[in-house]
Amino acid sequence: MKELSGSELAKKRAAEKACELVKDGMAVGLGTGSTAAYAIRLLGRRVRDEGLDIVGVPTSYASEELAIEYGIPLVSLAERPELDIDIDGADQVDASLNLIKGGGAAHTREKVVACSSRLFVVVIDDKKMKDLLSRPVPIEVLPYARRLVERKVAELGGRCMMRMGTGKDGPIISDNGNIIMDCDFGPIESPALLSQKLSAIPGLVEHGIFTNADIVYIGYEDRVESLE
Ligand code: 5RP
Repeated sequence: MKELSGSELAKKRAAEKACELVKDGMAVGLGTGSTAAYAIRLLGRRVRDEGLDIVGVPTSYASEELAIEYGIPLVSLAERPELDIDIDGADQVDASLNLIKGGGAAHTREKVVACSSRLFVVVIDDKKMKDLLSRPVPIEVLPYARRLVERKVAELGGRCMMRMGTGKDGPIISDNGNIIMDCDFGPIESPALLSQKLSAIPGLVEHGIFTNADIVYIGYEDRVESLE
């Protein structure tokens, strides 16, 4: 088997720790991104090898594809509106368990699933821990509302950049058919306040600040630490 690099090993360790919380009979939110993918693959192997009896709710088409490939039975939120646990990655985390998510443009569904779960578990490698959240905040925007959203974000002190695909692909389009912008606010002193203000902008479908994590597992090359 291929040797994992330091940060990949750290992600895998964090995902493994989170998967220990998953038991028979649970409905599990399946996050998006490379760290959440370790959890999906691991849960899939437990379904196949140990007969683990779970159902999954994917947070993106990418996670749905991976879960199908790994044999995790899937249900919709319409069928299971309340989940036992959600395991997802993040782009940055502070010591108060505030997160920036949406590096994979999936934060809208990720937030719906996280808020539908009794336990929201975040898995990261140690490089994602920061004193203050500072990377641009992803926002999903109704294309019709783009200019209004840009203006309202500027009034809050942020600068919006449309997220573009590689090459000549044009703007990135979310699984919900909307555009994604990354809004630079510099260091964010109060994530909860900014979250509230962004949520009040018409046409801004969802933003990537999450304030509802229950546990964060931080993977290192040789260990896992937790924040609760
Ligand atoms: C996708 C996300 C991801 O969870 C986040 O970008 C982290 O991804 P990775 O584990 O690949 O670093 O929010 O929208």
